[in-house]
Amino acid sequence: EKAGNSLTRFPLIPIRGVPLMSIIANNFDSIWAFNPDPSDLLIATYPKAGTTWTQEIIDLLINNGDAEACRRAPTPVRSPFLEIHSPPPIPSGLDLLKKMDPPRIIKTHLPFQLVPQGFWENKCKAIYVARNAKDNMVSYYHFDRMNKTQPEPGPWDGYVHKFMQGQLGWGSWYDHVKGYWVEREKRNILYLFYEDMKENPARVVRTIMQYLDLSVSDEVIDRIVELTSFKNMKDNPMANYSCVPPEVFDMSISPFMRKGEVGDWKNYFTPEQLKMFDEDYEKQMKDVHIPFRSLI
Ligand code: A3P
Repeated sequence: EKAGNSLTRFPLIPIRGVPLMSIIANNFDSIWAFNPDPSDLLIATYPKAGTTWTQEIIDLLINNGDAEACRRAPTPVRSPFLEIHSPPPIPSGLDLLKKMDPPRIIKTHLPFQLVPQGFWENKCKAIYVARNAKDNMVSYYHFDRMNKTQPEPGPWDGYVHKFMQGQLGWGSWYDHVKGYWVEREKRNILYLFYEDMKENPARVVRTIMQYLDLSVSDEVIDRIVELTSFKNMKDNPMANYSCVPPEVFDMSISPFMRKGEVGDWKNYFTPEQLKMFDEDYEKQMKDVHIPFRSLI
């Protein structure tokens, strides 16, 4: 490890076969033992699938579109990240949750089988957001470049292989999206797609509203769509992760609010990589049909 780097770039340690950053893996027993309140809401995603966007939409829905109320604190304070245990000032998810009263909006990147059982025993509502594999990977690649707690991404070509083999933090994208998909009916999980949010955000905001048994006016829906546009969230210090110091998130390498588009993968894949990736994708995804778009 490079000098001065010792606090960061945590290695990945497998927990039941899923590689997790050491700060999470070493604390996994307490995470697994977490017992939510039945009123708590879980937002689950593979990293970079649109978590922060969804967290903002939900906070605004709960606060009836009140922008000021949703600027009371940065995203990870308003909506704790269950398994994270990062260097200050990023709060530990479990510590924050201890201090907060339910109902809480709890973020996780854990695959379904590693989510504390209490969420299902207590019949908590859960929203899963999935993003097409290629854009998800491009976004994660840039995030791993700037996030000094995650392992170095290395060159793009090697990164594609690591993604395909499930060697990145939180493991296999394929297993992740399939794991929640097959459980969604039994567990009453609302399964959303990033591409749908981009195509028709108002429709998705309404879908979330109905799932949460909330009711806001059409005007408020429109306001939420506006407040959660990529541009507005990028400029919102309480939503753009500028709360994290540059030693941890180096936004000069790549901003947290990077591009926010569908199809950016076309700027990255060589024709050879595309062919290899698509062939492998067919194999890995053939057992479960999930209606992803933007694959071609
Ligand atoms: P890109 O890197 O492709 O730009 P997460 O919150 O799960 O970490 O996901 C981050 C990704 O969601 C980034 O993707 C980020 O730009 C994008 N994103 C965040 N807020 C968004 C918004 N309001 N609209 C569209 N995309 C958004």
